[in-house]
Amino acid sequence: MTLQLGDVVPDFKQASNMGEISFYEWAGDSWVVLFSHPADYTPVCTTELGEVSRLKPEFDKRNVKVLALSVDDVDSHNGWINDINETQNAQVNYPILADSDRKVSDLYGMIHPNANNNLTVRSVFIIDPQKKLRLTLTYPASTGRNFPEILRVIDSLQLTDDYQVATPVNWKEGDDVVVLPSVSTEEAKQKFSKGITEVKPYLRMTPQPNK
Ligand code: BEZ
Repeated sequence: MTLQLGDVVPDFKQASNMGEISFYEWAGDSWVVLFSHPADYTPVCTTELGEVSRLKPEFDKRNVKVLALSVDDVDSHNGWINDINETQNAQVNYPILADSDRKVSDLYGMIHPNANNNLTVRSVFIIDPQKKLRLTLTYPASTGRNFPEILRVIDSLQLTDDYQVATPVNWKEGDDVVVLPSVSTEEAKQKFSKGITEVKPYLRMTPQPNK
C-alpha cells in the first residue's frame, strides 16, 4: 500500500526501547513525526537521532511526538543509544521502534527494494491528531535530513489549518503569508485585520495572522 497525503495512517503495535508502542493510543491527540533509519550503528543516523533529541523541546512546544524506527532489535537500540548520548551531546528522549520483523516498515512503505532490499530508506511522515498523513519525505540513506525544515513544515501546517492562508517560498514563523485563492480580495480585507497587499489579483500577502 502506498500512503498518500490525506490518508488515515494504519495503526500498529511494535516493540521499542521504551516498551511496546500501540501507535494510535501512544499518539493520542498529538501530532506525530515518524521517521525511519536504515540501521543501528550507522554514522548519519547517529547524528540525526542526536539532533532530534536536542530539538525535542521544539517538538513538544508544537504538541508533536517524535517516533524513530530502525530495523534492529531493542538490545541493539539500547547499545546504540548509549553511543548517541556519548557522542552527540544529547540524551535520546523519545522511542525508537525495534522493527526487526519489518512490520511497520512494510505497512508504511519504508523499504524501497530497488534502493536496498534490507534497510529502510530515510522516510518522514507527519501525521496530524486525526491520524491523517500530512507530509511524506523520502531521503536516500546517504543524505541526513534537515530537522529544522520539518519543524518549519509543522508550523506551516498548524497555521494553515487555522487560517485561510498558505505559506510562500522559504517562509518561516513570523513572515508574511499568502491569502488562499478561494478568498476574494474583498473578503480578505474583512478577515485579515492587519491588512492585505494586492501584488496581483491572485497574489495577496498579509502579515501572519496569529502573531
Ligand atoms: C548512515 O546512516 O550513516 C548510512 C546508512 C546507510 C548507508 C549510508 C549511510
